[in-house]
Amino acid sequence: KRAIKVALLGAGSVGSQVARLLLEQADEYERRVGTRLELIGISVRNPDANRDADLPRELFTTDAQTLIVSADIVIELMGGITPARELVTLALESGADVVTANKALLAHHGAELFELAERVGAQLYYEAAVGGAIPIIRPLRENLGGDKVERILGIVNGTTNYILDRMHTRGDSFDESLRIATELGYAEADPTADIEGYDAQQKAAILASIAFHTKVPVDQVYREGITQVSIEQIEDAKRAGYVVKLLAICERLTDEQNGGEKVSARVYPALVPETHPLASVHGGNNAIFVEAKAAGSLMFYGAGAGGVETASAVLGDLVAAARRHLLGGPGSGESMDADLPIVPVEEILTSY
Ligand code: NDP
Ligand code: HSE
Repeated sequence: KRAIKVALLGAGSVGSQVARLLLEQADEYERRVGTRLELIGISVRNPDANRDADLPRELFTTDAQTLIVSADIVIELMGGITPARELVTLALESGADVVTANKALLAHHGAELFELAERVGAQLYYEAAVGGAIPIIRPLRENLGGDKVERILGIVNGTTNYILDRMHTRGDSFDESLRIATELGYAEADPTADIEGYDAQQKAAILASIAFHTKVPVDQVYREGITQVSIEQIEDAKRAGYVVKLLAICERLTDEQNGGEKVSARVYPALVPETHPLASVHGGNNAIFVEAKAAGSLMFYGAGAGGVETASAVLGDLVAAARRHLLGGPGSGESMDADLPIVPVEEILTSY
């Protein structure tokens, strides 16, 4: 079978890890998908910049358009709206499936991109756009697609959680904590998006739209960031038995006036009782509670930011897109690593 051609746009914190794993695990992916995933090029601003991963120089280009029109699947990890919007549009128009982690793009232009994808018979995958490594998009869309989600309560920004956590647990300053979060690859290219709550606002809009099967415009999500939260407030909260967390709260409510239902989505620094499970979400981790009518309460927890962690979600989407490409449909998702040995029970018991 012909190799599937993959173009990568962006090789920063996330993109460089996606490229590294795609190259390192090429044989593994070939077994899983049934054909080779060939990384045909990486589009960046500066091909000579130092990267978090050691990647072949000949893969780099500044000519994103030429790369895109030669690809079967395009992975967009540049971030921002321009030129990501034009390039994702070009990719879909060229018939490629697209994988993106770009919540800003989806929150502001998702409707037009999904409509285009449907029109041309392509797919847009975006598991990494909310919650970093945590599977949350597919569970909401697919696994809970037959249930009725009532409320989502989440810590959806790793940078602000990291900052608030350091201020709470170590008494560190806001600026120092932001500096380290940026070094760890958690923050956006412009960290204003994180600390002023825009990133969490975009994620809340995406989650609420999927969960409530409606379009929740990003500017309808109430937003407050954490720049006004002082170390004194955090210490007062601590003495009173609370932890300050930036929460995204999305709710389906009864519309008393008009009958029927309405939706509320809001992001703000909230006082969380220290006994609540959300209070023990530390560092760059995220946690998303979903309350659904039939399923009850579910919690999704894990690394909400970070290059390699987010690469996991991107690569999961890539494998799904590649299977779809190969089968001309959603794919069975059932290809197994059949040659792996099974560990005997005694070994598991002794090694745990
Ligand atoms: P970075 O800022 O680290 O990397 C961006 C990359 O895109 C760089 O390689 C840059 O090129 C390239 N790029 C940016 N603008 C252009 C342009 N105009 N033309 C060509 N190339 C361009 O971003 P991240 O890897 O942190 O994030 C990528 C995406 O993933 C964003 O949408 C972000 O919101 C999302 N995301 C990030 C997470 C994280 O933890 N970092 C987690 C989840 C999602 P060059 O290197 O030459 O400057
Ligand atoms: N800047 C984002 C965060 C990256 O800190 O959560 C993950 O979306």
